[in-house]
Amino acid sequence: MSGIYFHIPFCKQACHYCAFHKSISMQSILDMLDCFKKELQLRKEYLDQKSLSTIYFGGGTPSVYHPEHIQMLIDECSKYWNIDMDAEITLEANPDDLNQEFLSELKKSSVNRLSVGIQSFHDEDLILMNRRHTGNEAYQAIKRAQDIGFNNISVDQIYGVPSLSMAKWIENLNLVYELEIQHISSYHLMYDANTVFAKKLQKGQLIEIEEEESFNQFKYLIDSARENGFTHYEISNFCKESYISKHNSAYWKQRQYLGIGPSAHSYNFKEREWNIAHNYKYMKAVNEGGIFSEKEDLSFYERFNDLVLTSLRTYWGLDLDVVMEQFGDQLYRHCIIKAEKYIQCKHIRREKNCLILNDEGVFISNDIMSDFFFIDD
Ligand SMILES: C[S@@+](CC[C@H](N)C(=O)[O-])C[C@H]1O[C@@H](n2cnc3c(N)ncnc32)[C@H](O)[C@@H]1O
Ligand code: SF4
Repeated sequence: MSGIYFHIPFCKQACHYCAFHKSISMQSILDMLDCFKKELQLRKEYLDQKSLSTIYFGGGTPSVYHPEHIQMLIDECSKYWNIDMDAEITLEANPDDLNQEFLSELKKSSVNRLSVGIQSFHDEDLILMNRRHTGNEAYQAIKRAQDIGFNNISVDQIYGVPSLSMAKWIENLNLVYELEIQHISSYHLMYDANTVFAKKLQKGQLIEIEEEESFNQFKYLIDSARENGFTHYEISNFCKESYISKHNSAYWKQRQYLGIGPSAHSYNFKEREWNIAHNYKYMKAVNEGGIFSEKEDLSFYERFNDLVLTSLRTYWGLDLDVVMEQFGDQLYRHCIIKAEKYIQCKHIRREKNCLILNDEGVFISNDIMSDFFFIDD
C-alpha cells in the first residue's frame, strides 16, 4: 500500500490557531499546479510500489482549486502509478467553498472522500478562530455534500477552545452525530508557535481552559462517539464501520508515502524527507529541475521511537513481534519492562502480543509514549 499527499499551500484567510504552511495570496495558484506536475515527474521513482491505494489533497485549502484542477492532478498521478480501483481519494475542503456548483463538479471527479473543516457549529467560536464561515453554513455544506451523493465524509472539530463551554461542545458533537457522518477528527486546541492564538495567550488576551475541563471534553468525546457507533481508532480519530481513513492509517502503520508541494513530508522506510515550507523557493527549485528538501536519516533508536509514537496512538497498538523482528531482543525487553506498570494500573492491555492503550492510557498518551522512547546515552 502506498499513497501520495498533495499539500495545497493556499488559504483565503488565515485561521488564528493554525500553523500549517500556507499563503493567503492566490497569485501563484496556477503556476503551483505546473510545479506539482513537475515534482511528480521528478519523484516518480520514490515509491517502491507501482500502485497507489490513496491520494490525499490536504493543506492549506485544496478546495481553492476547481475540481477540474484536482482531477488533472489525479490523472497526472495515473501516468506514473496504477491507481487501485478502490483507491481512497480525499479532498480537504473548507465549508464556504462547498457550494452547489463546486460539489456537483467534484462529484464528477475521482474524489470519493471529503474532509470538511467544521471546527465548531457556534459562531462565537468561529469568529474567535477567524474562520470564513458560520456554523449554519458549515451544517448546510455537509447536507449539500450528502444530497449530491458523497457518502464518505469526515469532519474536523476543535475542542479545548477558550470560548467553547462543555454545553457547546456537547451541542457540536450532537449535531455531528445527527448528520450521520462516517468519520470524525477531533483535535484538542494546540497553541502552535507563530499563531495569533499563541501571541494572544502570551499577552494574556486568551486564557487556556482548565486541565479538568480539557479532560472532561475529551472524555465526553470518547464516550459519546462510542455510544453513537464510532470506533475510536486513533487518539483524535473516530470512524463508523469500515470508514477508517486509509491514508492516515498508512502514516500510523509506517507505510510509504510521497508528499508533493511545499512543506509536504515523504517517507520511504529509510528516511523522512520534507519539502521547503516556502512557496516561492519551492517553485524556483522545481522549475530548475530539482527539489528543495531536507532529509533526516533515522538512526536505529530513532526508528524505534518513531514506531512507538505512531503505533501506540492507534487501536492496533505496538506490536511486540514487530519490535522483536525489526529491533531485536534489547528493545523487545525494554518494551516489556516499560509496559509492566501501565498494565498493572490498567493504562495498557496486552492483546495478541500487542500493547494497546486503554481509555485511561489515552488520556495520558503523551507521557506514556515518551516513557517508552529509548534514549541512547
Ligand atoms: C490543515 S487543516 C486543513 C483543513 C481545511 N483547510 C480547513 O480548515 O477546513 C486540518 C485540521 O487541523 C486542525 N488544526 C489545525 N491547527 C490546529 C491547532 N492549532 N489545534 C488543533 N487543531 C488544529 C483543524 O481542525 C483543521 O481542520
Ligand atoms: S485551518 Fe485550514 S483554512 Fe484555516 S489556516 Fe489552517 S489550513 Fe487554512
